Amino acid sequence: MQHLNDQKLLKHASYINGCWHYCVNEIAILNPATGEEIAKVCNAGVTETELAIQSAKKALKAWSAKSANERSTLLRNWFDLMMANQDDLGRILTSEQGKPLAEAKGEVAYGASFIEWFAEEGKRIYGDTIPASSGDKRIVVIKQPIGVVAAITPWNFPNAMIARKAAAALAAGCTFVVRPATQTPLSALAMAELAERAGIPAGVFNVVVGDDARGMGKILTEHKDIAKFTFTGSTEVGKSLISQCATTVKKVSMELGGNAPFIVFDDADIDAAVAGALVSKYRNAGQTCVCTNRILVQENVLAEFTEKFIEAVKALSIGNGLDEDVTVGPMITAQAVKEVRKLIDESISQGAELTFGDYDLSIGENFLAPIVLSKVTNDMPVAHYEIFGPVAPIISFQDESEAITIANDTEFGLAAYFYSRDIGRVWRVAEGLDFGMVGINEGLISNAAAPFGGMKQSGNGREGSKYGLDDYLEIKYLCMGGLDK
Ligand code: SIN
Repeated sequence: MQHLNDQKLLKHASYINGCWHYCVNEIAILNPATGEEIAKVCNAGVTETELAIQSAKKALKAWSAKSANERSTLLRNWFDLMMANQDDLGRILTSEQGKPLAEAKGEVAYGASFIEWFAEEGKRIYGDTIPASSGDKRIVVIKQPIGVVAAITPWNFPNAMIARKAAAALAAGCTFVVRPATQTPLSALAMAELAERAGIPAGVFNVVVGDDARGMGKILTEHKDIAKFTFTGSTEVGKSLISQCATTVKKVSMELGGNAPFIVFDDADIDAAVAGALVSKYRNAGQTCVCTNRILVQENVLAEFTEKFIEAVKALSIGNGLDEDVTVGPMITAQAVKEVRKLIDESISQGAELTFGDYDLSIGENFLAPIVLSKVTNDMPVAHYEIFGPVAPIISFQDESEAITIANDTEFGLAAYFYSRDIGRVWRVAEGLDFGMVGINEGLISNAAAPFGGMKQSGNGREGSKYGLDDYLEIKYLCMGGLDK
């Protein structure tokens, strides 16, 4: 681990009820760029998870009783501390996850922006009064915190995915237990240290780190004291967690896999489309649920787009995210590289062409060079499956209706993008795409003020924005009768 300005941000144990919880067994945390061990973290399990749930339960009464303004002040302190420590948090993030340092610092600011947003939005949890059917009655609707929230978060955004969930939960008056991905717990623990410094009371924000994914997942989904479960990760794992939550009829929100189409119409600004595709495809080495998975290009601009896109991809620089000027870091594991290579190989055997990229790049087993594939069809593995790697498959289409049909031909429905300057087409395509988020002439859509979430098998619920609070609130209807006596 590189030297930090504040070495105390590097923590080695779970954070439960305001204490660092040490145990005997440890997990080694590796830098995916070098394979070097950067830290050891105590390996907690179901016992510590139970302890965290009980401390969140105990803290709930006092936290939910605080005024929205009091909670807002503490969340704002947390935001300020995250931003004041952006450089250290970025270094920790790059060291454990691999993304380039500039991108890691961007993620820290992105994560913090949810805390800032919800610190304000928590003051606007409004109810309703509704005209009743008779004069002696009144109908009033109030919103209350749902209770203890459990979360499981992924390795691809070790800071922002926690911040996005915790900020909304805490602003709504809920308490929170998170199990971060085993590969990337250091960002989560640094956030806990800053939450404590911000004055967030013991038991309100708990982080349990352990490699018993099944055991800890079971308790977080089936425990009767947890009212709501939230997950970001693969659709396959999400489905099994949803079924576990069914045993106690928990409210769930799921941010699952994607298969984003990126459509370039012949009336688009091609240079803008190239820039948008580049950022949307290669952000975090393609390991993002909203990353472009398939580039659909109208046939009469295919040659121009492909040539310009390859020129832009040539300018990317792959390497250790801590090195200056690197724009594409390693993938998370060698196994992840193998899985993406398999998708490439199978697609090539079905007729796809490797148009650009150093397939045999030899800087380390966790690295895969940015690759561009042409002559792809929507039934090939690179188009059918979520790639989660730096591979850009290009598919051609004839007209608008074919583009929409190909784009929607997937079980996923998270993000989609398209480039066009025709206002009629912009509305038709935006409304015709079966995706929860649509970037129009824009490749980067993530924003704390906007509702992030998907349709179909990409999940349910929304994170960020005013809609993101609803996932952590119960709606209660009060019927007041006998008022004319
Ligand atoms: C994700 O990959 O799920 C998160 C991406 C984002 O928030 O932009």
